[in-house]
Amino acid sequence: MVVTVASMKGGVGKSTLAAMVAKFVAERRGTPVTVIDLDPQRGATILLLGAEYARQRAGPGVYEVLESEQASIPSTELIAQALRPSPYDGRIRVLPSDAALAHME
Ligand SMILES: Nc1ncnc2c1ncn2[C@@H]1O[C@H](COP(=O)(O)OP(=O)(O)OP(=O)(O)O)[C@@H](O)[C@H]1O
Ligand SMILES: [Mg+2]
Repeated sequence: MVVTVASMKGGVGKSTLAAMVAKFVAERRGTPVTVIDLDPQRGATILLLGAEYARQRAGPGVYEVLESEQASIPSTELIAQALRPSPYDGRIRVLPSDAALAHME
């Protein structure tokens, strides 16, 4: 199942909804959930990985993955490197966003 949360309008609760749906599905179904944050504002990344992670931001994220795809480099390994488990729920993995993504918009 793929759920997309998208709207041109800012500040309407997209990031919050994405994080809450991920948590709800992980808890209710007990299945792994992957959250791909494509917003340079990183709302879902910060909600699910924590502000401390967002400050440190070690390793690749969704920006590097998309960039490698543009360059036609197979990025399966990069995706595996970029995916981070949420400290709040080990069933949730996040492909974190980065402010650099704004250059791609
Ligand atoms: N259901 C809700 N009820 C009340 N407040 C909410 C609700 N959902 C989100 N908020 C609050 O509204 C604000 C904006 O939410 P959020 O960051 O999720 O929006 P967004 O659409 O992702 O914004 P942006 O366009 O900046 O990425 C936050 O302060 C959040 O805590
Ligand atoms: Mg947001």
